[in-house]
This record gives sequence, structure tokens and C-alpha cells, in this order.
Amino acid sequence: MKITYKSSKKINPRQILDLYKSINWIKNSERLKTGRSIASAYQNSQIVLSAWDGKKLIGVIRALTDKKVNGVIFGLSIHKDYQKQGIGKKLLDNCMAKYPKIRWYVWAGNSKAEGFYRKSKLKPTKQILFERK
Ligand SMILES: CC(C)(COP(=O)(O)OP(=O)(O)OC[C@H]1O[C@@H](n2cnc3c(N)ncnc32)[C@H](O)[C@@H]1OP(=O)(O)O)[C@@H](O)C(=O)NCCC(=O)NCCS
Repeated sequence: MKITYKSSKKINPRQILDLYKSINWIKNSERLKTGRSIASAYQNSQIVLSAWDGKKLIGVIRALTDKKVNGVIFGLSIHKDYQKQGIGKKLLDNCMAKYPKIRWYVWAGNSKAEGFYRKSKLKPTKQILFERK
């Protein structure tokens, strides 16, 4: 199996939905449920990186950044059949390498991946996140 990596916003939203489904993310991604919203969220992100097994999308990451000070990573997800093979780390490293000097944050909906991020030298912050309700 040869995994290839792409830096492109052109990803069929259905493939992203299939990937999200494989990791039970559809409920968490309520606002991104429709293909149109997904396509728009990816189009409006500055960085979109993906991993492929042939034509099958097996991993994505996207990020917003001011390119000088801060960057925020969203939605790192690896298809359930392809986890623990170094693909998540590669996407995360490649994303942060686009702007290696800025401060990178990861938007994480839960702490399940904390061990993964710690291995990549990211730690939980003391900053508080406020959400409009
Ligand atoms: C978390 C996730 C992105 C990790 O991607 P991955 O491709 O499976 O991880 P990698 O194979 O690159 O792992 C890199 C290292 O982290 C470790 N690791 C991976 N997932 C881990 C976890 N959940 N807890 C602790 N360590 C973990 C691996 O064992 C590996 O360690 P090693 O370098 O000592 O071998 C992936 O499992 C995933 O998509 N999970 C579901 C969605 C999710 O939680 N995304 C996070 C966004 S908040």
C-alpha cells in the first residue's frame, strides 16, 4: 500500500463525509453535515492537506492562519482502517511546517487524541476558549 499526500482544496465532499463516518464524526460535525458546507469549509481554509490510498481519501487536516503569529488546526482525521501508521503525524507535521515559526493551536472537540498530540510536542494550553451560545 503506497500512501500519497496532496496539498489541495479540491476534495470531493462525499469522500470527506465517508472519512468522517468511519471515525463516527458525523454527529460531532453537525454543522458540516451537508456536502455543500463541507466543500465551503475546506475552500475557505488556508491550508488543506490530505492523504490517499490510490483514489481513496484516508486522511485530512485543515487550518486557518494569519501566517505570522497564530494558526489553528481543525479536523485532523484519519480513516479508521489506516490509523496508527504514522499518517496523522505526517499530516500534522506537514501542516505546521508550512509556517514553522508561528504558534500553532489545535481545535480538539475532545481529549481522546491528547496522547497523539503530546507525542508531537503539543500540550494542552491554559488559554480559555469562549464559544458564542
Ligand atoms: C488521532 C489521530 C488523528 C491519530 O492519527 P494516526 O495516523 O492514527 O496517528 P499516528 O500513527 O501518526 O501516530 C503517531 C504517534 O502517536 C501515537 N498515537 C496515535 N493515536 C494516539 C492516541 N489516541 N493516544 C495516544 N497515542 C496515540 C501512535 O502510537 C504514534 O506513536 P509512535 O510514534 O510512538 O509510534 C487518528 O487516530 C484519528 O483520526 N482519530 C479520530 C479523530 C480524532 O480524534 N482526531 C483528532 C482531532 S481533535
